[in-house]
Amino acid sequence: MRVLFVASECAPFVKTGGLADVIGAVPKALEAMGHEVKILIPAYRALLPLLETGQRVSEFSDLFGGKVRVIEVRAEGLSLLLLDAPHLFDRDGTLYLTPEGQDWPDNHLRFAALGLVGAHIAADGADGWVPDVVNCHDWQAGLLPAYLRQFKRPAPAVVTTIHNIAFQGVYGPQNLAPLGLSAELFTQDGIEYWGSISFLKAGLALADKITTVSNSYASELLMPEFGMGMEGLLTARAGDLSGILNGIDLDVWNPGTDPALPRPYNARSLKGKGINKAEVEARFDLTPNPSAPLFCAVSRLTSQKGFDMLLDCLPGLIAKGGRLALLGSGEQAIEQAFVDASQRYKGAVGVVIGYDEGLSHLLQGGSDAIVIPSRFEPCGLTQLYGLRYGTIPVVARTGGLADTIIDANDAGLQANCATGIQFSPITTQMFSQALARACDLYAQPKIWSAMVRRAMKHPVGWDVSAGAYLDVYNAALEQKSN
Ligand code: ADP
Ligand code: GLC
Repeated sequence: MRVLFVASECAPFVKTGGLADVIGAVPKALEAMGHEVKILIPAYRALLPLLETGQRVSEFSDLFGGKVRVIEVRAEGLSLLLLDAPHLFDRDGTLYLTPEGQDWPDNHLRFAALGLVGAHIAADGADGWVPDVVNCHDWQAGLLPAYLRQFKRPAPAVVTTIHNIAFQGVYGPQNLAPLGLSAELFTQDGIEYWGSISFLKAGLALADKITTVSNSYASELLMPEFGMGMEGLLTARAGDLSGILNGIDLDVWNPGTDPALPRPYNARSLKGKGINKAEVEARFDLTPNPSAPLFCAVSRLTSQKGFDMLLDCLPGLIAKGGRLALLGSGEQAIEQAFVDASQRYKGAVGVVIGYDEGLSHLLQGGSDAIVIPSRFEPCGLTQLYGLRYGTIPVVARTGGLADTIIDANDAGLQANCATGIQFSPITTQMFSQALARACDLYAQPKIWSAMVRRAMKHPVGWDVSAGAYLDVYNAALEQKSN
């Protein structure tokens, strides 16, 4: 099968979160199964050097104010179709934000271009390569099926994947004409959303099938607390919606070969983990103590992720002998609160504000546990890295966190299946108790190390889920042909 992925991020090239990891990993798994996958992503400034090595596969003389080319490149085991539109993507700042941290004022044009060029490739192919199925990811690719519909020509099946419903790409109705969208589509069962245009709604309403990144999140999305306004549409389309759990790239995230670790290790010999722990302590200015539990956090610092609750848990955690090493960036107030905490609890709390891929690997390889107190979490990847690195996840029971971690309650321990600690309801008090439970378990080395080894053996690769994507693609094709 030929599959076109359309997304705004792809690891290891451009990444702000888990979306990138997934886009960088699923195509490899599908190719290993004998399928062809190409990934259409914007040629942001960081990707410009790659253009030199590629080949032009299509060109548009004027798209939203400038010339656009699509350049095909094979890099890092992936086939990329780079959307080269310097007037939209050759800029400083991050993928979505200006250097001052504001949304780019023309984000609607930037990602409409992604959808429109994706629709052209879907309909006409790229240098003779025509996909059977297009898989659009999140709101940035949402307009693709809208443009495809406007072409009024035979088209491949479209699957939209929701990685996070909180981001919906909503823009005022005055943008209809500038985006080249026909008024015909501006209806309740099209792209209209409370009087505005929603890119995500377009992707959900007009795709043949919809997936999201865990089973629990697929059910949660039908409820107002989680659906964020899309629950009605998703309930109407529930028959076309399914959850496919994320996996991780087992080559990139391998404690046995990870170049970011001073001492790689595996489930048979965990000695290296202790050496890595000392390195984490040094990098985060923590008082060295091999026998005190070290918790880490690697996350965007936004209200979704629940780290404000962690601040209130710190005195209790420290009283139990625990320490925290946190790497994150996001909302300034949360960043500052953690910097303050690292001053207040010197030696017990270490904080690095920023985005650092290597350091995130070191934290997984050198910490005893990783905390993920999310208020909602479509899937979450850091708990999966935690499992693979024997870094016990302490997680809120929601979305993909609920689906991937088996709680170390009495039954879980007795049945030898526990891989982490869950808490629910998602409150500071329950989180605090979960951290205390983790410290108590850590103080029982036999139980703890058995849990670490079990976690490391828990299957977290893509093989099962890649097969599930194929099933959905086949179902979408069949539905379309009927
Ligand atoms: P989300 O996509 O909602 O941010 P995920 O858990 O799915 O959450 O994925 C987050 C990804 O981003 C993981 O690969 C994690 O290691 C990485 N990450 C998050 N914050 C940082 C950071 N400050 N530095 C390095 N990597 C980070
Ligand atoms: C989103 C979600 C996260 C998920 C990731 C990859 O960013 O917040 O839970 O793991 O996408 O699907």
